[in-house]
Amino acid sequence: MCDVGCAEGTALLLMAQAFPASRFIGLDLSEDAIRQAQISALRQGLSNVEFMTMNAATLKDSDRFCGFFDYVTAFDAIHDQTQPFDTIKGVHHALADRGVFSMVDIAARTNMNDNVSHPMAPFLYTVSLLHCMPVGLVDSGAGLGMMWGREMAVDLLTKGGFQNIEVFEMPMILLICISFAVNK
Ligand SMILES: C[S@@+](CC[C@H](N)C(=O)[O-])C[C@H]1O[C@@H](n2cnc3c(N)ncnc32)[C@H](O)[C@@H]1O
Repeated sequence: MCDVGCAEGTALLLMAQAFPASRFIGLDLSEDAIRQAQISALRQGLSNVEFMTMNAATLKDSDRFCGFFDYVTAFDAIHDQTQPFDTIKGVHHALADRGVFSMVDIAARTNMNDNVSHPMAPFLYTVSLLHCMPVGLVDSGAGLGMMWGREMAVDLLTKGGFQNIEVFEMPMILLICISFAVNK
């Protein structure tokens, strides 16, 4: 399986420990984060995990990873990418038939009016404006921001080729997590 935008590999290292018979690949744009993830894997003696510096938006052009993964995850790692739609298409390209993508992202609605009763909305919009949108706008990027919301996420997943999209709200995890499980 693959974790897209794995940063220092915290989630992937836990999964690699828990499932020693499975193989894991973590991708991230940040060389520093990948170096740290590789050091952690070595320290933990894990031989079933590999970390690579890679722009996930290029996955869609990868021969090596075409139909390669049974399962792909992205934890809070799609909305602040400059080319998130290319990454979604890349995940679809990289999944084997009947593969599954779990995209865990911020619980919000796309229309701001629908977030009025969201108790965390002022905080989340602030973080989005000060971090996610600026980094997502680099090089004329999409700049979706953290509050892109479930409707836009479902729309991009659908246009990216995914079917059977299931959305799970995760109650009380700071009210900010939402999980999209999609079959190829
Ligand atoms: C908010 S962090 C989440 C990190 C990790 N998934 C976690 O839950 O701790 C987003 C990560 O996505 C990475 N990222 C951003 N754009 C990327 C891209 N185009 N390709 C791969 N990784 C990217 C960033 O470097 C960063 O490590």
